[in-house]
Amino acid sequence: MQSRLEEMGSFFDVRIDGYDEHMRAMFEDFELYYETIARPIAETTKPIDVLDLGCGTGAELNTLFKQAPQACVTAVDLSAQMLNRLLQKFEAYKGQITPVQGSYLSLPFAKHHYDYAVSVYTMHHFTPDTKRALYQKICNALKPGGKYIEGDCVVTPEKEQEVWQWYRDRYTAEHLQAACAPENTLYHIDIPCTVETQLQLMREAGFANVELIWYREKEESAIFVAEV
Ligand SMILES: C[S@@+](CC[C@H](N)C(=O)[O-])C[C@H]1O[C@@H](n2cnc3c(N)ncnc32)[C@H](O)[C@@H]1O
Repeated sequence: MQSRLEEMGSFFDVRIDGYDEHMRAMFEDFELYYETIARPIAETTKPIDVLDLGCGTGAELNTLFKQAPQACVTAVDLSAQMLNRLLQKFEAYKGQITPVQGSYLSLPFAKHHYDYAVSVYTMHHFTPDTKRALYQKICNALKPGGKYIEGDCVVTPEKEQEVWQWYRDRYTAEHLQAACAPENTLYHIDIPCTVETQLQLMREAGFANVELIWYREKEESAIFVAEV
């Protein structure tokens, strides 16, 4: 559990160097994980619209552009450094990427505009209530039949309880008071859910079909697909 609070955007800004290597080291099979993220995207040469939430340096875009080389990607991230690195890495797709620096929690999304929405390793920073509200917003942003693909870390039911105990007892009271920051400041905290909680939140948000397509217990990694 974290002991020091860091604002979300600056947390990632200062870790830009070495970030890609850090992500690679998290997975037993990094390539397969990101291939699985892109698998629900039907192969196409059409300019489909994709919303990438918490895009970071764009690890998911490599496999996404293999499936849909003409995809138009709205790439949202709080961190200016992460977005800059993404644009350098994907120079060849520059005309297809719209970078947006801001929080996907507060930014409005175009209604029924996207064929797919993707998020990888970014949702475990938020409470179930925050996630449910965001999933509803994503659901409204997708076209009928559109899909939301989420990759993230997951925990066992016991660990979920532990995390919640920590969040309720410590983070909400002591840390926030000590930080003396504006109420809506986003901090980098890790509060992952179980697979079951995730599936439930997506269903409650209004997705019709919700599926788990990857789960590695040891690695605590999962991938979900939710269809409008
Ligand atoms: C662990 S990184 C994952 C990046 C990338 N998706 C990947 O798989 O490598 C999480 C990213 O989410 C971004 N992020 C966290 N909360 C956010 C928010 N509310 N709005 C936009 N971006 C956010 C962070 O700035 C960071 O770049």
